Amino acid sequence: MKAFEPRSIIEPFRVRSVEPIRFTTLEQREQALQQAGYNPFRLRSEDVLIDLLTDSGTGAMSARQWAGMIASDESYAGASSFYRFERAVQDITGFKHVIPTHQGRAAEHILFATIAQPGQVIPNNAHFDTTRAHVERQGAQARDLPSAQSFDPERVHPFKGDMDLDALRATIDEVGPARIPAVMITVTNNACGGQPVSMANVRAVSQLARAHGIPFIIDACRYAENAWFIKTREPGYERARPIDIAREMFGLADGCTMSAKKDGMSNIGGFLALNDDELAARCRNLEILTEGFPTYGGMAGYDLEAVAQGLYEALDEGYLRYRIRSIEYLGEKLLAGAIPIVRPTGGHAVYIDARALLPHIPVGQYPGWSLNNGLYLVGGVRGVEIGSVMFGRQPDGSERMAAQDLVRLAFPRRVYTQSHVDYLAEVILEVAAQKADLPGYRIVEQAPVLRHFTARLQPIDTCPP
Ligand code: F0G
Repeated sequence: MKAFEPRSIIEPFRVRSVEPIRFTTLEQREQALQQAGYNPFRLRSEDVLIDLLTDSGTGAMSARQWAGMIASDESYAGASSFYRFERAVQDITGFKHVIPTHQGRAAEHILFATIAQPGQVIPNNAHFDTTRAHVERQGAQARDLPSAQSFDPERVHPFKGDMDLDALRATIDEVGPARIPAVMITVTNNACGGQPVSMANVRAVSQLARAHGIPFIIDACRYAENAWFIKTREPGYERARPIDIAREMFGLADGCTMSAKKDGMSNIGGFLALNDDELAARCRNLEILTEGFPTYGGMAGYDLEAVAQGLYEALDEGYLRYRIRSIEYLGEKLLAGAIPIVRPTGGHAVYIDARALLPHIPVGQYPGWSLNNGLYLVGGVRGVEIGSVMFGRQPDGSERMAAQDLVRLAFPRRVYTQSHVDYLAEVILEVAAQKADLPGYRIVEQAPVLRHFTARLQPIDTCPP
């Protein structure tokens, strides 16, 4: 017999526990969306058939994670579950101090409340919304420095998530190192299409930051997916194990913020990890105030166990191959149907270019929002707008349209199968066929920050009676 190389990449697990999903009619969805103020964040999940709102905290856990949860130690101080968590984080990241938090934004809060001040600037390849909000809450400026290749959704480039090194150099010259409390890089780059960052770019950013004595922090939410892209796209890493790639990357930094709801494969959790003793001590003081004692920090013992195991499962090659391939598979189906998407497909989601798909909707009427609502109405699918509703409102209250209006279809980890993906492609092509009927929207109610979570909108009647 000969060894055989199958072309089918199958789900590398079998399902032992199932959760029914609910089918609704178009009329039911119309009513649900209206009641939700035309904001999918306000929908009840039972009214959603395929939920691609986020890959955050929505994954399926493994039997090993559940086993760890049952055997957890719930002691307030010094729980063995914490030490298992700390060991896993230190093993993968190499950072000395591990500060658990209830999720990623809590790590951001602790870090920026400790290091950032008014008048300072934090450069990043692209800040995610909560990261930006925490920087701005301190009165500092969150400055995005994406690479030139990230602006063109159609341009195929292996590392569209990279930071623009010339822009970083120019920022350091302009602002001065004393007013830059940290340089950050987000892997993968969520705001720019889930695109990966190359090791070469991480290394160059690290060298620049270190040459100026500026701490370099990685937003590590999707570190395992980024490691997979380095392995498969960056020369010299073909044979490297994802865990070794991750270790090399973290070794270039002074710390990281992490949402364990992504590549921690858990439903909740996160951490801040740092090398600097004095900074870690100041961060722990704030942690006690806002999260809890430093050996649980907003998590139960069982959450710490789930993350300790999940961080390794995210680095499994069979899992990463299946995950990245399922996203690429949807991308291929959409491209075959002439749907404009961000190319190549990224790590955790397919991003549809709503501005290109819906040229009849003015940018000021939020084409991304309209497309996302169309997906819900036609197929019960919930994605998220990553565009002008999410990013348009400026700290001074003015409105500036985002660089792109995208709809992100984020895949929960280990949850949906290939037939779900086939269905998704069918729904998206159907929405495109009916796109002339999609309306623009206006915002009728909004919060001053992170308005997309709670805003109420109204469709704009394009043919008044
Ligand atoms: N950084 C990035 C790059 C993220 O994508 C997120 C969350 C966070 C930080 C904050 O982590 O949610 O645990 O507080 N992103 C989710 C998403 C919400 O849907 O992309 P958190």
